[in-house]
Amino acid sequence: MPIEWDAAARQLHLHNGQVSYLVRVLEDGSLGQLHFGASLAEGHSYRHLGRTGFAGFKNRLDDPIALEYPTTGGGDFRMPALTIEQPDGSEVLHLEYVSHRIFPGKAAIASLPSTYVESVGEATSVEIELIDRPSDAQVTLSYSIFRDQPLVARHARIRNGGTQRLKVTTAMSASLDLPDAGWTLVQLSGAWARERHVTERRLAPGRQSTSSLRGASGLEHDPSLILRRASTTETSGEAYAVSLVYSSNFVAEAEVGPFATTRVRLGINPEGFAWTLEPGDVFETPEAVLAYSAAGLDGLSAAYHALYRERLARGTWRDRPRPVLINNWEGTYFDFDEQKLVDIATVARDLGIELFVLDDGWFGARDDDTTSLGDWTVDRRKLPNGLDGLGRRIEDLGLRFGLWIEPEMVSPQSKLFAEHPDWAIGIAGRERTESRQQLVLDMSRPEIVDHLFTVLSEVLAGAPISYIKWDMNRNITEPASLGLPAERQGEFFHRYILGVYDLYARLTAAFPKVLFESCASGGGRFDPGLLAFAPQAWTSDDTDAIERLRIQWGASLFYPLSSMGAHVSAVPNHQTGRRAPIATRAAVAFFGVFGYELDATSLTPEERAEVSAQVAFYKAHRELLQRGRFVRLRSPFEGDGNETAWMVVSDDQRRAVVGYYRTLNRPNPGVNRLRLRGLDPEVRYLVTPWPSRSDTVERDNAHTRGGDELAQVGLFLDVDRHEIASHGDYWAQLFVLEAGA
Ligand code: GLA
Repeated sequence: MPIEWDAAARQLHLHNGQVSYLVRVLEDGSLGQLHFGASLAEGHSYRHLGRTGFAGFKNRLDDPIALEYPTTGGGDFRMPALTIEQPDGSEVLHLEYVSHRIFPGKAAIASLPSTYVESVGEATSVEIELIDRPSDAQVTLSYSIFRDQPLVARHARIRNGGTQRLKVTTAMSASLDLPDAGWTLVQLSGAWARERHVTERRLAPGRQSTSSLRGASGLEHDPSLILRRASTTETSGEAYAVSLVYSSNFVAEAEVGPFATTRVRLGINPEGFAWTLEPGDVFETPEAVLAYSAAGLDGLSAAYHALYRERLARGTWRDRPRPVLINNWEGTYFDFDEQKLVDIATVARDLGIELFVLDDGWFGARDDDTTSLGDWTVDRRKLPNGLDGLGRRIEDLGLRFGLWIEPEMVSPQSKLFAEHPDWAIGIAGRERTESRQQLVLDMSRPEIVDHLFTVLSEVLAGAPISYIKWDMNRNITEPASLGLPAERQGEFFHRYILGVYDLYARLTAAFPKVLFESCASGGGRFDPGLLAFAPQAWTSDDTDAIERLRIQWGASLFYPLSSMGAHVSAVPNHQTGRRAPIATRAAVAFFGVFGYELDATSLTPEERAEVSAQVAFYKAHRELLQRGRFVRLRSPFEGDGNETAWMVVSDDQRRAVVGYYRTLNRPNPGVNRLRLRGLDPEVRYLVTPWPSRSDTVERDNAHTRGGDELAQVGLFLDVDRHEIASHGDYWAQLFVLEAGA
């Protein structure tokens, strides 16, 4: 059994041959955490790993005992996982074990997205019941261990089992107590147009965290963290990761205590959070997905990619090849009419593109970003035949038709705002802060979600729409809801995102064939929570190929390529002014869900030929690029960051595509070998460079080479010193590897 209960040791052991997770009922009834990490043998007692008793106030404070779900006020002064304000104003809790239940499969979390299984054999779960007797707060800790991955999913359910009101002010999804502090914290941080950069620091005594208070997971930090040893690499050494299936205010935090232990916690940000539980009420935390790898960061990423691609994403499009799209945003911004769009689509069709996406500006009277959000009726000045007329013309060309929406927003200049000024989030007597000239609708109010479901259903049903880009372009200020009494305002942010999830759930259920892509000024809500509804996300508004190397590399720590929208745009690039060759722009965007973000009618004949070849290349390798095993080879965050390399290998190891990128050219280069990973050492591969340039690189590599040799010696990136000038800056070279017959 992947979950064993040892009654004598009062120990639960979750194991799958890759990881073990061990908890034990301690002598004082609380639940101790014995171990999470490398797999330990089953059938043994590990009770000696937990300290025998909690000394508490009677003896010694600050005991570095490892606890499963720590609380405040009991002598453990580190970060709590759970805080509940009780009727007398106190917050002390002592959670005691009551019972547990082991079952095959995995249960869903009511109203929140979570990972799932398709057959009960894929995971085994346990629910552990705890109680704080004086307050009658009941806590259910749920765990699922997946059969095939070094992953454990966790969350908590808190129930008021008593007769008086309780107020939950901290409720983490996971807390981990690691027995030492020799870790480097890896976080994915940045800002608009430079999201998910890998940022590292050595843990130091005290707390270190990333978080959001924006009402979204945010552009600034991913809701996750990784701990690795200083010596851990992509392929060797220990690493832990925690990732939150949630799209709103979070905290991901590590605390090094006085005895050099590390406590990690992950969950809803307690700042500003308070949830009232009347007798019988239940609060469920989001799910945290925990991973351990003894084989470096690659081991973590491979596990998250598989789980998030196949058992978090869902729906018709989960496993289907995603269409190559063209989006008109950078091509036209707000300045288009039906004919212009059809012209772009016509060229796109000729180049092999499969989906035309109409971005912002099709509704109300939206000629710029000052008006009309909330008025989801077509602008007949631009589109006299409506969305339906345009959609049909696009479909007649042989393309699918997609549409941009930003459901959660309202422009002060809009009919919706004129009719329902109180639907915008704000506080009476205070000015509302505008951002991008827009306000946020109060998604915590069911009547607003209902309204949006009705109007957006009409839009979706009224035209042949196959794809939706759901945008969200500002964060929440003056957070408060007219729908909540004063004492419940601490519930606002969580209720907001529950409303967003509800709208997503209803729309995706009503329109199951539509492919949803999430977006929030790029990667401002690119998180596991939304992946449950939208299997792909717009990774960043930054379409510059060179910038994208870092953004996509960082995102790849947790997210599969099938979730990362990546487009070729025009030069000079609209975010950086850089002029990367079109081949390089494509060579980066291929490692994601590929598309274009430009006015196809303004491509030169040479560019058209290149685009056509790119689309054909992507289609030929799409299955592999979207679903294969992604392997990071050379990091843009290491050294001077001048080189990046990565590859994708098919599950059967018979095909691979390798991408190599060099930002600045350097004269008189030295020897440069790129060792590959994930190939079958027994197989011989035909190596084909793309694009073909008849240069040294092509001459040296375009042969049949053994998987062993490619791993041990590598591809040759050496370039003749006389030829190097022809490469210039922003150079990319792909290699296609195919197993010989
Ligand atoms: C955001 C998105 C862009 C585009 C614009 C439209 O910035 O990230 O891709 O859709 O909104 O206003």
